Amino acid sequence: MKIVTRSPQETMRFGMKLARHLKKGDIICLKGQLGSGKTILTKGIASGLGISRKEVLSPTFVLIRHYSGTMPLYHFDFYRLPDFREITALGYEEYFYDEGVSVIEWADRLGCLTPQDCLTITLTLGKNDHRTIEVRAQGELHGQLLGALKEAWGK
Ligand SMILES: Nc1ncnc2c1ncn2[C@@H]1O[C@H](COP(=O)(O)OP(=O)(O)OP(=O)(O)O)[C@@H](O)[C@H]1O
Ligand SMILES: [Mg+2]
Repeated sequence: MKIVTRSPQETMRFGMKLARHLKKGDIICLKGQLGSGKTILTKGIASGLGISRKEVLSPTFVLIRHYSGTMPLYHFDFYRLPDFREITALGYEEYFYDEGVSVIEWADRLGCLTPQDCLTITLTLGKNDHRTIEVRAQGELHGQLLGALKEAWGK
């Protein structure tokens, strides 16, 4: 599924709409260069889960932030990951398969640790404030999620 947004607000609204379809244990892998809108999208998802979007900061130096909404939201950012092994030290799998939703910025860094079943969202910079948002699914659970999203967007 591919959509184009024309403003940060529109990307945020996409995240809010997406959040309505999320279930516990869902994993969203965000990809895209600096400033492509990964954090903005996460703010939208948070907002859709009843978390104030102002609370959501770029967790660049923290690796993970935890927010309490209608479901827990685990927000990862692996941009500055000093060492691949730190991801394993984080015990990330406990978060991924817990009662909440995981959103991972710079998910490319996960390499072979990338979950088998997840939703991958790739953001690409376009002209002016345009962003192309491409949504793909790996595995059965997130395949169903993508199906629901396509239906909601009439694609
Ligand atoms: N259509 C759009 N969608 C999202 N953000 C947009 C859009 N148009 C312009 N922007 C701007 O692009 C920037 C996106 O920043 P954001 O922090 O979300 O990027 P990021 O992908 O998380 O970057 P980083 O890799 O540094 O974490 C913001 O300044 C936002 O205002
Ligand atoms: Mg970011």
